[in-house]
Amino acid sequence: MKLIVHPAEKLEGEAVVPGDKSISHRALIFGAIADGTSVARNWLDAGVTARMVDCVRALGIDVEVEPTGFGQATLTVHGRGLNGLTAPDQPLFCGGSATTMRMLMGLLATQPFTAVVDGHEGLRRRPMERIAKPLRQMGATIDTTDGHAPLTITGGHLQAIDYTMPVASAQLQTAIILATLGAEGKMTLHQPGPARDHTLRMLRHQGIDIQEEDDGLITFSAAHTELKPLDFTVPGDMSSTAFLMTAALTVPNSTITIQGVNTNYTRTGLLEVLQAMGGPITLRNEQTQAGEPVADLHVSAGPLEGVEVKGEIVVRMIDEFPIFTVAALRAHGTTIVRDAAELRLKESDRIAVVVEEFSKLGAKITPHPDGFAIDGPQQLEGATVRSHRDHRLAMSLAVAGLSAVGPTVIEDAQELNESFPGFVETLQKLGAKIESHE
Ligand code: S3P
Repeated sequence: MKLIVHPAEKLEGEAVVPGDKSISHRALIFGAIADGTSVARNWLDAGVTARMVDCVRALGIDVEVEPTGFGQATLTVHGRGLNGLTAPDQPLFCGGSATTMRMLMGLLATQPFTAVVDGHEGLRRRPMERIAKPLRQMGATIDTTDGHAPLTITGGHLQAIDYTMPVASAQLQTAIILATLGAEGKMTLHQPGPARDHTLRMLRHQGIDIQEEDDGLITFSAAHTELKPLDFTVPGDMSSTAFLMTAALTVPNSTITIQGVNTNYTRTGLLEVLQAMGGPITLRNEQTQAGEPVADLHVSAGPLEGVEVKGEIVVRMIDEFPIFTVAALRAHGTTIVRDAAELRLKESDRIAVVVEEFSKLGAKITPHPDGFAIDGPQQLEGATVRSHRDHRLAMSLAVAGLSAVGPTVIEDAQELNESFPGFVETLQKLGAKIESHE
């Protein structure tokens, strides 16, 4: 798919985004090992979660996905408890979804059978040793291909561990917690920073007593606990909202409201940074939905100031740096990003591809080993760019095109369906002129 994005005069109106990707993955995997049938409404029906559905089905679990809108579905998972999974007769294919692969590693570590887990070329480049190492310490056998997929996992007979995570990663945290569900003894997990905490919130909802201290220490003894089935509505994804929020801030005269967004503190890094830059964003109608905070975000265009982003907030906006680039390029003064070397290990090397593709639009961005620097404001000019098979880069380039001079063409834009089907339609409804060609 190719997108042609034309400069927008203004964006206006109300929008909704599909359900949160992280919570949707967790609803599926924790639903599969719950005792009974779970239902998740507004569940994210997209490329990444489709891979998880295939894998969970291949483990013998019945899953129904009933579409209810662009990227939205009602998910029904007929959970069979932690001991109800069956050995897959083929490798479990995770496509490009690292979340699927890393969570499955934790789950498969508990199972008394052997399974092979693989993904497409991009996923085969991403580090898996950081997950394999603690799972091996717990007693699982995990063979990697030089620290990468394909992986062969044989689980069972696990012992909970005391472990210090080398990186603040919710995927690593979740894999260890999943494995602990099938282990003897008490887990103590030391996290270097506040990774997203959806796993803890969901497990508490399922009747599990799991604690997290202010310093990020998580303690938990599974002791053959049963998980209660889930019945909830997935709140809107803050990471998808980030594209609309930045679009409204950077297209002059815009005012939009994005409804029902998850405002969990571990996910609001970009929102806080944009507000610190002077972005007029307000939260309305704040509520709690199944243990997660939710609000409507009201956003208007406004002048932005450069900012320094470093330290703990980086993890709380780890998926938002490609779109943050668009705001930084519009801001007056210098913006510096530090402590973000993890960006080089995402769907693409997000520091390198951001510099490469935005420079085609005329941007000047200075890369650093752990971030980048931008002097703004810079006026972008439309050009032909490509996604590098990275959904968030494709959408960030499209948002950049809305305030560029002349049309911007994004090649390989189909990747956006990995996390935000309906991205184009949502922006069109707000007044953007975007053509989509197969
Ligand atoms: C996710 C955690 C993050 C994030 C990813 C989803 C999750 O990865 O980048 O998109 O659902 O746990 P890390 O845990 O590797 O930082």
